[in-house]
Amino acid sequence: MSQIIDGKMVAESMKASIAKEVQELVASGKRAPHLVAILVGNNGASETYVANKVKSCEELGFASTLLRFDPSISEAELLQAVIDVNNNPDMDGLIVQLPLPNHINPDRVMETIHPSKDVDGFHPINIGRMAKGLPAYISATPQGVLDLLAYYNIETAGKHCVVVGRSQIVGLPMSILMQRNHPQGNCTVTLTHSRTANLEEMCQQADIIIAALGKPEFITAAYVKPGAVVIDVGLTRVEDASKKSGFALKGDVDFESVFPICSYITPVPKGVGPMTIVSLMKNTLLAAKGVIY
Ligand code: GUN
Repeated sequence: MSQIIDGKMVAESMKASIAKEVQELVASGKRAPHLVAILVGNNGASETYVANKVKSCEELGFASTLLRFDPSISEAELLQAVIDVNNNPDMDGLIVQLPLPNHINPDRVMETIHPSKDVDGFHPINIGRMAKGLPAYISATPQGVLDLLAYYNIETAGKHCVVVGRSQIVGLPMSILMQRNHPQGNCTVTLTHSRTANLEEMCQQADIIIAALGKPEFITAAYVKPGAVVIDVGLTRVEDASKKSGFALKGDVDFESVFPICSYITPVPKGVGPMTIVSLMKNTLLAAKGVIY
């Protein structure tokens, strides 16, 4: 029997426990966790993501600050804004929404965020600490996938996990996390990408497929071994005149053909997506409590 992993339900239950913890923190006389988001320009998807992050802060009792900058901001000015947040003891976590305009080097920006406030987990120190198995902020989407595997008690030890896509934000950290000696780890991991030969055969050997390549409905039943666990991290806007917004969100997995043969699958929407924001909130709470650094 195939089972749909209900990311929305898991996210709601985790949000409730985070909100409770924030209430207790505030009741004990501490200030609420404070997340700062920097948004440069007005990319439509980024606007939506940041608005959702701010909304989640309000729902969970966090303080939030949105710093908006014109796309013409210089790199030096943006770096100064980051440094100002680093130096503000009332601000716990900082995210700089990506993508940034072409004249700004995103790596320089990420490296300027103090690792102790890098709740996106994009700073090389946090990535390095994660790779070494040291306490670190783990980026939101991979953490969300781990939390879903944990919630559904999906056995990972000794399994072959094929990650499709080597992005810095999802594929690469996912591959590192799945091989760790950890309850949601101990997999034999294959990290595949656009230059992988025989991708279909590689995926057919997977007990767990994590699709994060950004190509709508690319992973069809032909890629999936019967009984495999299929995690769909894809989220691509596809034009759809029948929708009020004018677009539909598509995952990387062809749900219709894959669902009948897999053991577990995350749908799009309501799969991994809702977990991402919860992970960010969890990291911000950890930052406020000073748990990692
Ligand atoms: N752009 C797309 N996803 C993300 C994310 O998780 N964090 C940030 N800062 N930018 C993004």
